[in-house]
Amino acid sequence: MANKLWEKNFEVNREIERFTVGKDREMDLCLAPYDVLGSMAHITMLQAIGLLSAEELKLLLAELKNIYHACESGEFSIEEEVEDVHSQIELMLTRKLGDVGKKIHSGRSRNDQVLVDLKLFIRHELREITEEVKLLFDELLQKSDRYKNILMPGYTHLQIAMPSSFGLWFGAYAESLADDMLFLQAAYRMTNRNPLGSAAGYGSSFPLNRQLTTDLLGFDSMDYNVAYAQMGRGKTERNVAFAMASVAGTLAKMAFDACLFNSQNFDFVRLPKECTTGSSIMPHKKNPDVFELIRAKSNKIQGLPQQIMLIMNNLPMGYFRDLQIIKEVLLPAFGELKDCLRMTAYIINKMEVNDRILENRMYDPIFSVEEVNRLVAAGVPFRDAYKKVGMDIEAGSFVSDKQIRHIHEGSIGNLCNDRIAELMQSILQDFHFDRVERAEKQLLS
Ligand code: ARG
Repeated sequence: MANKLWEKNFEVNREIERFTVGKDREMDLCLAPYDVLGSMAHITMLQAIGLLSAEELKLLLAELKNIYHACESGEFSIEEEVEDVHSQIELMLTRKLGDVGKKIHSGRSRNDQVLVDLKLFIRHELREITEEVKLLFDELLQKSDRYKNILMPGYTHLQIAMPSSFGLWFGAYAESLADDMLFLQAAYRMTNRNPLGSAAGYGSSFPLNRQLTTDLLGFDSMDYNVAYAQMGRGKTERNVAFAMASVAGTLAKMAFDACLFNSQNFDFVRLPKECTTGSSIMPHKKNPDVFELIRAKSNKIQGLPQQIMLIMNNLPMGYFRDLQIIKEVLLPAFGELKDCLRMTAYIINKMEVNDRILENRMYDPIFSVEEVNRLVAAGVPFRDAYKKVGMDIEAGSFVSDKQIRHIHEGSIGNLCNDRIAELMQSILQDFHFDRVERAEKQLLS
């Protein structure tokens, strides 16, 4: 016998049930602890506006806390016969507390319930992602400082171009992460607004105190317009996916560099052999599979915003079941991105750099602009200096002292890593994770 919140006097067709529930039982497990938190805030508010007695609230809060701990210890599950996490928790409350459990859904719909669950879950995941991003950022900046004097060729069109350095290479990806962090913050701030009280998407005739649930859940503010709050379903996920895609783009680019630089033909970096994988047929192989998988997984994450956009493409205002499917693409992506961030930091830490790259004469032409600039500084017009050096190279008579004189901000000799670190720090300060932590602790106390 199916156990449905909305079941009346007929039973739903089994096939319809199977198809409409889909992967929800699995997906909703991620949301379970947040469904509990959302319910705790909602019923605290219901009591404040006279829809629950103090005694009823006490009973419900105690039981919800038990369920929260069951989620934490991995004992919570969604039964075969139950549609989703929202139904499961209400069912557990009514089994335990009888009629009191049936009162919690006043002034609420599963539409704003799943919205609040998703926002609380995403908020938590984004915090973890920022932490992983910061760890990788620190690793990169440290490597940049450490190897700031080790030169390598810089490329355009994959043709040797100008002198570069490991300081520039590592530091560039650190600064890229600072920009990604800004994107994460925008996504976080849009996420951290309370949709609860929007109910089915058009509010309620109960005098709900939305400010109270906003404060209890540690949201910065609410999604004010109830119809807009409902529009946040899909839009929130898409914006978060854009931020994740930005991080993933940084990882994928760096992973490709690393694969290239690790090739014997480049030989710029080396991985310790225990960090490589072998071949079943070629005994000599030490492959950089870690970077290849980071690249592929990150590229997959870069497709996430498009996937979400296509699922919700052209949906008009109001809730549709289409939105359920977004959970299937977004929810697993958080773990994948965190894993990629962690593995990138891990392998970058182990990577060795070649400090004798430029001893190879094939790279001498990268100093051509140094020579042109030296002549210009001595009074030769740029175009004439350019021509002379070009002719020398053609004639095979070009020689360079291989001295680097880059001193402006952000160049090889003046990386400004301290300022990049400040930039990251100033962005991190504006997340205010402490507020959320305090509110959630308070709610569970
Ligand atoms: N599983 C649904 C989802 O993720 C929950 C909301 C159901 N609401 C509804 N009106 N059918 O969207």
